[in-house]
Amino acid sequence: MSATTKQNYRGVYHFSPEKNWMNDPNGLVYFEGEYHLFFQHHPDGMTMGEMHWGHAVSKDLVTWEELPLALVPDELGMIFSGSAVVDWHNTTGFFGEKPGLVAIFTHHLNRPEDEHPLQYQSIAYSKDNGRTWTKYAGNPVLTHDTFIDFRDPKVFWDRERSRWVMIVACGQTVCLYHSPDLIHWTFASEFGTGTGSHDGVWECPDLFPLAVDGDKEKIRWVMLVSIGADPAYEEGSRTQYFTGGFDGEVFTPDEASHSIRWVDYGRDNYAGVSWSDLPEEDGRRLFIGWMSNWMYAPQTPSAGFRGAMTIPRELTLETRNGEAALIQRPAQELEAVRIPVLSLTNASAQEINAACAGIQLEAYVIEAELAPGMTAGFRMKAGAAEQTLAGINGQTQELYVDRRVSGKSSFHPLFAGMHSARLAAPAAACDLHIYVDRSSVEVFAGGGQAVITDLIFPEHGSTGLAAFAEQEEKRFLSVRIYELSPAAPAGGSR
Ligand code: FRU
Repeated sequence: MSATTKQNYRGVYHFSPEKNWMNDPNGLVYFEGEYHLFFQHHPDGMTMGEMHWGHAVSKDLVTWEELPLALVPDELGMIFSGSAVVDWHNTTGFFGEKPGLVAIFTHHLNRPEDEHPLQYQSIAYSKDNGRTWTKYAGNPVLTHDTFIDFRDPKVFWDRERSRWVMIVACGQTVCLYHSPDLIHWTFASEFGTGTGSHDGVWECPDLFPLAVDGDKEKIRWVMLVSIGADPAYEEGSRTQYFTGGFDGEVFTPDEASHSIRWVDYGRDNYAGVSWSDLPEEDGRRLFIGWMSNWMYAPQTPSAGFRGAMTIPRELTLETRNGEAALIQRPAQELEAVRIPVLSLTNASAQEINAACAGIQLEAYVIEAELAPGMTAGFRMKAGAAEQTLAGINGQTQELYVDRRVSGKSSFHPLFAGMHSARLAAPAAACDLHIYVDRSSVEVFAGGGQAVITDLIFPEHGSTGLAAFAEQEEKRFLSVRIYELSPAAPAGGSR
């Protein structure tokens, strides 16, 4: 593989492991100035295998430094997905004066003598900011007699009841447990039968409160549930969400949760979960997902590593069409690494293209505002025989990404395709934010209500960028293009 091809796949501002395979984000926790990003990692292979927790840290959510492996397989099994928390009150007894980190994860044991692999929940703790970990001697801390798929525990502190809550995937439902100390767990409830999508096994759940429209009197809980790929569905693996109430034991879905709602309408945002323990003054709910799809993840073009995370995003709940909808916006930290390239107002596609001529960017963001009813967008990563389109269809009120001829796609028959997301309400003007990197596009429209995340594998030299509009008389209200250019941390990777 040539150096050029290699470069083609590693995102400029997306996290990928230095080497080999990565899938889900794990153990997202903020502690003492660092965002921790652990991840499902096979350190010795380019596909899923003996799973470990890899580890990276960032101070700014843009540049990541990969650290040594955090959790390695042992006699209880491989290390599957899970979460991490700060044990501020030393509920575990693992810490002294200074609080530390506890990881809660699934052990996955695959023995020839068993009919099926065994899955149970275990914990480990770190007294040195996640650099080294000690597995708890009494592992596993939570087993189940009947669930074969019993995995991906996400734990949070229930402040009202002063105890921990765990949400864990159980086949095609989730179960809620609580605990005083992360060691002894009591079953509280099960959710999911007859609700939501059951097109695949449920995985990687999350549960957290958000203030609707920022109003602290209107708290609703958001439950994220990823569902695995099933050959019967061309979407592959994807993530749904529910909104509802939570009383410490039972999650009660809102009316709106009786229809299926997806977090992302692209193909490549899976197993995403949120960061734990952001300081109260910050108050954000930050999310990151694995930018791939189990349908083709092991076959994507690669160059010494395989797998990337999405950009970090802020999640909010905002009223759209009369219901509390999940909204995603790029984490504001990305603004710090933007270099302005172009800014136009009230411009036609032609005028934009005249201004764009000669611009050659690898990693950039386009922010545009379209006139009402306009069908328009951008052609990106264009070369002689390839292009990726992202735009809004003013007639159908849909956001779409077209990666039918975006570059390499022969590795899977369903990779090439077009993906769309409905915009909640016909808006006066429509905003379009497109984050482009070497092998991905992440598109946000309708103020973060419609989101499409898609991988693409264009040639290195395909840097063409242009605007298009179906109705020539309509004009883009504004267009801004920025290069995204984070500096690599000294001695680190990104
Ligand atoms: C989701 C998932 C999890 C599991 C992990 C294994 O992508 O299947 O359910 O813990 O990946 O790598």
